[in-house]
Parts: sequence; structure tokens; C-alpha cells
Amino acid sequence: MEHIPLKLFSVDEAKPLEFAVIVPVLNERDNVGPLLQDISIALAGIEWEVVFVDDGSTDGTIELLESLALRDQRVRLVRRIGRRGLSSAVIEGFLATVAPIVSVIDGDRQHDERLLPEMFHAIAAKDFQMAIGTRYAGGGSVGQWDSARVRISKFATSLAGLVMKTPLSDPMSGFFAVRRETFIGLVPQLSKMGYKILLDVVASSKTPLRVVELPYEFRTRTAGESKLDNMVALEYVELLLDKIIGKYIPVKLLMFGTIGVMGAVIHLTLLSMLLNVSGVAFATSQALATFGAMIFNFTLNNEFTHRDRKLRGPKWVTGLVSFCLACGFGAVANVGLGSLLFAQSWSWWAAGLAGAAIGSVWNYVATSWLTWRKR
Ligand code: GDD
Ligand code: MN
Repeated sequence: MEHIPLKLFSVDEAKPLEFAVIVPVLNERDNVGPLLQDISIALAGIEWEVVFVDDGSTDGTIELLESLALRDQRVRLVRRIGRRGLSSAVIEGFLATVAPIVSVIDGDRQHDERLLPEMFHAIAAKDFQMAIGTRYAGGGSVGQWDSARVRISKFATSLAGLVMKTPLSDPMSGFFAVRRETFIGLVPQLSKMGYKILLDVVASSKTPLRVVELPYEFRTRTAGESKLDNMVALEYVELLLDKIIGKYIPVKLLMFGTIGVMGAVIHLTLLSMLLNVSGVAFATSQALATFGAMIFNFTLNNEFTHRDRKLRGPKWVTGLVSFCLACGFGAVANVGLGSLLFAQSWSWWAAGLAGAAIGSVWNYVATSWLTWRKR
């Protein structure tokens, strides 16, 4: 490659970039301005940049960030369109910076930005790979949470112990800094699901990381609203399962199978009601019960397993049709394999289970491709 004289860009005169702050944002218009001000005060003396990662804010956050970024080159913006997810947003922020040390902070001012320089120096000057803001050690606290939320958070934290290689007092924290090379090295192993990126990182590293924990008090939100909904618990369980057994079975297949087992119960219930209570003929009862169970399976998978590609309106109807078609072939595979094994003198239940397992895997693969195709 041809040698590019550095002088051309006069980079030798500038102090190199030392630190990046990633801020995931979704509708935080009234928070980003004050946050930026807080950050620039806290980081005086350090060469920094801030990377906002927006997932389609509709409240004017993007326009505001663009106008701030036009005037201050330390302010950068990554926009993702048609995407959601705190963890993946943070990962893409990391990929967009070349700063050697990178931090993550919420965009709603609930994290104490005054910890940022401490985090930076702990990694730059000492031998730490990671510095983590904690609410559960030293003088840290969760601020004004009610006791129910504290209990739920403590319980979730204790579950995290199942997958952590580095013991942490606050693995659910979304506030931390890390050497960029450490983080980038782990990206291929990350589950990238849900919103617990820190837990994902410490569970993905094969060896314990050298971390320092810095206490802070979690502040109360003063503007905008929280984005985390009921799905957060499900996403957390998915992340834990992916870390524990994801290497062997995809978590989505496990969910699909669990819903399938529930669907079988629905099927039998419907069949017995139609047959025994309403006195409908067996063939008709069986057909209706099968259809009922398919609607049940389709609806739950649409709601949970494939919620990131959820079908609505007319697409819901065509989705149901393609789901039923795909599962029809699954039933053929199921009966075919089951009969084959039974003929080879497998016991009836083992042959039946093997057939059902093959049918379920087929259904999962076929409907992922046909019904909930990635766009
Ligand atoms: N880009 C992007 N995409 N940003 C998002 C998304 C998303 O899908 N969902 C939330 N955000 C942004 C919000 O705008 C906010 O800046 C930040 O992520 C945190 O979201 P909140 O909705 O305020 O979450 P929280 O306060 O309940 O929980 C947060 O704080 C905890 C304590 O530190 C999260 O960051 C947790 O991960 C963290 O543990
Ligand atoms: Mn928040």
C-alpha cells in the first residue's frame, strides 16, 4: 500500500482520541442536550467523542442530535432503521468508534456521568479491562425504587450468577467502560439479545475479566419515559438460556417446542369437548381441534418466539395460512418417521416422540423461513 504522509491531515498536532461514550437513545429529546452538557463538563481534559445510537425516535431526538453534531465534531450519530434492541444498539456503537476505551451510558440521565472520568482512568492508568457502575456495592444505591422493583432486580441479579464468569455486584447495570479491544474480541460470542449487554459480555468471556466496580446512585428519570416493557423479563430469560444451552439448541426452537407442547394439550382438550360434550363425529372433531391448536400455536409464536417479526393485520391471515401449510408437511414427516421406527420394533412411545420431535424441528425451520421470514 502506498505510504500516506500523516502530515497531510495534520494529525500529529492533535491529541489522539482517548475515550468514547456510547449512548443508546429512543425518544429522549429533552434529555440528550443536558446529558451532552453533563458529559462535556465531566470529561474536561480527556479527548472524547460521544456516539448516540438511535433506533427511530419520532419525538425530534434525531433532528436535535443532527444539529448538535453539525456544530460539534465530538458528537456523532448512528441511526438504525426498522431495528430495536438495547444490546445490539450498544454493539453497533462500539463498532462505530476507534477510541481505545469505550463507555456506555443511558441517554436519560439516570446514570451518574461524573463516574465517567474515574472509569476512564481506572482502565487507562491501571490494569483493569473494565470499569462498572454499581448500585449494589460500596455507596451505590437504586435511588427511589419501590420495594417490589428492588426485589425483582435482586432476584434477576441472583439468576445472573448462573452464567457469569466474573463475579459482579450489579451485572444488570447498563453503565460501564471497557477496553475496546476486549469488547471487540468478544463480539462474535455475544448473544446480542435483549438489553443486558454487560451480562452478555461477562458471560461470554471464557476467562474472568479484570474489573473494578464503582458505586453510584441510580437517579430518577425526569423527562421522557422508560422503554422497557413486559417483554424485558422474557428477553432476560432468553439471554440466560442462550448462555446456558444456546450452543446446543437455539432458544427460539426451545420456545417453539414449548408452545407446541401446550398446543397438544389444547388439541386434546378441544377434541374431547367436541367429541364427548357436543357429540360431533370423530373426523370433524379431530379436524376442528387440529385447526384450533394451529391457531393457538401460530398466535403464541407470533406474539413471543418471533415477536421481532410480528405479523399484523392482513399479514396475520396470510401468515396463518403459510403456518398451517408448513405444519401440514411437518405432520407428514412426523407420521412417516414414527411409522418407520415403529416398524423397526421401537416401542410405541419412543417412535411417537421421535416423530413428534422431527415434525417440530421441521415446523420450526419451515415456518421461520416461510411465515416469519427475515426482511
Ligand atoms: N437505540 C436504542 N434502542 N435505545 C434504547 C432502546 C432501543 O431499543 N430501548 C431503550 N433505549 C435507550 C433509552 O432511550 C435510554 O437512553 C436507555 O436506552 C435506557 O432505557 P430505559 O427505558 O430508560 O431503561 P431503564 O431505565 O429501565 O433501564 C436501564 O437502566 C438500567 C440500570 O442501569 C437499562 O439501561 C438497563 O440496561 C440498566 O440495567
Ligand atoms: Mn432509564
